[in-house]
Formats: sequence, C-alpha cells, structure tokens
Amino acid sequence: MKITWLGHSAFKIEGAGKIIYVDPFLTGNPLAAVKAEDIDAADYIFVTHGHGDHTGDAVAISKKTGATVVANAELSGWLKSQGAEKVESMYFSGGCDFDFGHAKMVYALHGTTIGASTHGGVAAGFVFDIEGVKIYHAGDTGLTKEMELLADEKIDVAILPVGGYYTMDAKDAARAIDFIKPKKVIPIHYDTFPPIKADPGKLAELAGTKAEIIILKPGESI
Ligand code: NI
Ligand code: MN
Repeated sequence: MKITWLGHSAFKIEGAGKIIYVDPFLTGNPLAAVKAEDIDAADYIFVTHGHGDHTGDAVAISKKTGATVVANAELSGWLKSQGAEKVESMYFSGGCDFDFGHAKMVYALHGTTIGASTHGGVAAGFVFDIEGVKIYHAGDTGLTKEMELLADEKIDVAILPVGGYYTMDAKDAARAIDFIKPKKVIPIHYDTFPPIKADPGKLAELAGTKAEIIILKPGESI
C-alpha cells in the first residue's frame, strides 16, 4: 500500500494491484508533483465534488487510461458528458464494493457548483478500505459534527484540509481529529493559492499526541 500526495487534494493510492487517483487537479496546480499527460495508467479516479481544483484532469486521465471516474450522481453525469471513458455514481450509503476493496461516500460541509452555475450534487469525502487499511479523504470541508461518525470507522490515515478560507484551518482540523480519532493525518489543501497559505506544522502542534501528523511534500509517499 502506497499513498502519494500529488499536491493540493490530489492523491495516488496504490493497493490491491490497482491504481486509484483522488481529485487529480494537476494542470494549473502550481504545486503539482506530476503532469497529467505523464499519467499512463489508472484504474479509478474518485472525485469529491465539482469544483475545478478537484475535478481537475479527471476526464483527461480517464480518456487516456480508461479509468472509471467515481463521483456523486450529478457530478458523474457531468463528467460523462465531458467525455470521461467510464463513470460510476455513488452516494451516501453503506458504501460500494470495488475490485480493490470498499469505498464509502461520507458527508462534507461544502458547496458543489460546477463552473458558473451547473449543480454538482452534494460535496463529499471518501472512506476507502484497501488491503485492510482505512483511508479517509475529506475533500473540501468545514468542521462538522458529522465527523464524529467516522470514529467508528477506525481510520488509519485521515487526509484533512488545513488551508482555511474555503475549508477547515489547522485549528478546526485539530478539533476534527478529536472527532475522527485517526492514527495518522496528512494535511492538504494549503499553499496552492494565496488565500490558503498556511503552516501545516500548526496542526502538529495543536494535535499533540492525539495523532501522528505526517507533513508530506508534493510527490512524497507513505
Ligand atoms: Ni471546493
Ligand atoms: Mn478545493
């Protein structure tokens, strides 16, 4: 199992013999660790919501690799209309089985418009269970009590936004850790643009011994 941060909210997860991307915003991302055109293989692309810094290169990567794009019903329909090779829609539920394991869509407190006015359904995060490792990718979200529900999931790695402005900042992410009780946390969604300049080290200070805070550079893996 290898989890690689590609910058902003973009991740590559390799496990169970599959390659899974989440929110592959690479083109136009000043901190992107890879170029979209250099991605030759992918099995799935999960998209948390319809904002451009999350849909990113999902359609282009799907077209090139044949990867299945997974998103909520409204957003997956839009991605299909844009030319995604294969799409699957899911929504808040007990989750869905895939050939890599299990994925569950969970609540995010955030908006969802695609472009200027197309409604993108409800913003979400995902809980992945791959090779018995539980990974929570929060997408874009503010702090919400719904996160208390995630404590039962026994999250190994929580991927949490800390940049503030559009999402939680480090202070709220530290409170989220109290709700989620993950073993490890990877802070994301900071420094990409001027409004979200932030120090992820602040989360490590605030979290203390509650969770191991892993500060990656774009391109680094755990
Ligand atoms: Ni957003
Ligand atoms: Mn965002």
